[in-house]
Amino acid sequence: MEPSNLIFIVDDNPTNIKVLYDLLRASGFRVLVAKSGETAIERLESVTPDLILLDIMMPGIDGYETCRRLKANPNTMNIPIIFMTALSDAVSKVKGLKEGAVDYITKPLEHQEVLARINTHLELYQLRQKLEQRVQERTLELSDALENLKQSQIKLQQSQVQLVHSEKMSALGNLVAGVAHEINNPVGFMIGNIYPAIEYINDLFGLIQLYQQEFPSPGNAIQAYVKRIDLDYVREDLPKLLESMQQGAERIYNISQSLRTFSRADNECKQPFNIHDGIDSTLLILRHRLKANQNRPDIEIVKNYGELPLVKCYPGQLNQVFMNLLANAIDALEELNQNRSFTEIAASPNCITIITKADTVNNTVIISIKDNGVGISKDKQQRIFDPAFTTKAVGKGTGLGLAIAKDIVVEKHMGKLECASTSTDGAEFIIEIPLL
Ligand SMILES: Nc1ncnc2c1ncn2[C@@H]1O[C@H](COP(=O)(O)OP(=O)(O)OP(=O)(O)O)[C@@H](O)[C@H]1O
Ligand SMILES: [Mg+2]
Repeated sequence: MEPSNLIFIVDDNPTNIKVLYDLLRASGFRVLVAKSGETAIERLESVTPDLILLDIMMPGIDGYETCRRLKANPNTMNIPIIFMTALSDAVSKVKGLKEGAVDYITKPLEHQEVLARINTHLELYQLRQKLEQRVQERTLELSDALENLKQSQIKLQQSQVQLVHSEKMSALGNLVAGVAHEINNPVGFMIGNIYPAIEYINDLFGLIQLYQQEFPSPGNAIQAYVKRIDLDYVREDLPKLLESMQQGAERIYNISQSLRTFSRADNECKQPFNIHDGIDSTLLILRHRLKANQNRPDIEIVKNYGELPLVKCYPGQLNQVFMNLLANAIDALEELNQNRSFTEIAASPNCITIITKADTVNNTVIISIKDNGVGISKDKQQRIFDPAFTTKAVGKGTGLGLAIAKDIVVEKHMGKLECASTSTDGAEFIIEIPLL
């Protein structure tokens, strides 16, 4: 028994109070008294006794009602209440217990019985409190453990996905670089041979012209042949045809150059890289998505390139960052276009602005990629870099683009990748790469 336990007597009968008071004080308890249910409730706003002895028959609110109110209040609901009553019939005892009392004692009070019951309930109460505390602690520990487990599971999934992704990208990079290399040779000699081919053809045309001058009447067979092949048309068309073949070959050459720049396998060490080449090669690869179609005109690309030094970096990885940011910008424009007609889009055209500059104070290069698409709301901005966060349809987006881009910029290049966006004004992503 704790001698300092505080017992609260609630009774209107002074004789009863006196008897109980003396008994409890003599047994080492601290004692508090109230003469009505109302004053008891009021006192309990500022003190928390360990047990309440509650009389049933009192003027004002009776013991049952007092008990009901105390049990309804979270601050007092757990304090054990023992009813004291002259009513010894079973109905009133059951009623008291139903209201939430832990026990009852009948008047006239039997001293030893009162003390025995009080001590039992104090012990039970303390035990219950300890138990509850223990349960609470264990629950907390368990939910902490569960949360940790969940977090590490998520992290594991994320790193697995990123690993698979980067392995895929590097395998794809090697493949693309290989194919681009294979294309380069034949395209190279096509381009190399087209010039002499044009010259030879011009020579042959000259020769034919000379023949025509020297032999104006070459005979029926030749005349019929000239007519059948429509020599005048061939003479006019063949140079144009060769010119377009030349242009086509040059375009293939440029694309394969870009593919090689884009997919440089460079995971081992950093190397000096012309950032503008990286952006341009990425744009060329995305050309099919930027070109006009039946729903909209071309997406405008506004380049505002500053003077940049070569940047020591992993070029293939930075290109992947440009690719993800530009692909997202195109997606955001397509989303905005969804409810607009061709004419409406033409009136306020889709546009991606790319600005680069060197920051000589902080010794960094800054690349900004800005679109005038749907933009990103403030609450979404908190989550866009989370792996697997996507607002795109299933199968369209994996939600990894920005997570990977951030990883490459921040972890691999010690840089920064930030988003500035207002929902009405499109989105801007700013990359900052330190110059080492
Ligand atoms: N330029 C942007 N304009 C508007 N919203 C954007 C832009 N860039 C990213 N977002 C938002 O951020 C989300 C996450 O982008 P992230 O690139 O990580 O994934 P994703 O594009 O959905 O899928 P994935 O790139 O893997 O194909 C997008 O789903 C989109 O809601
Ligand atoms: Mg993306």
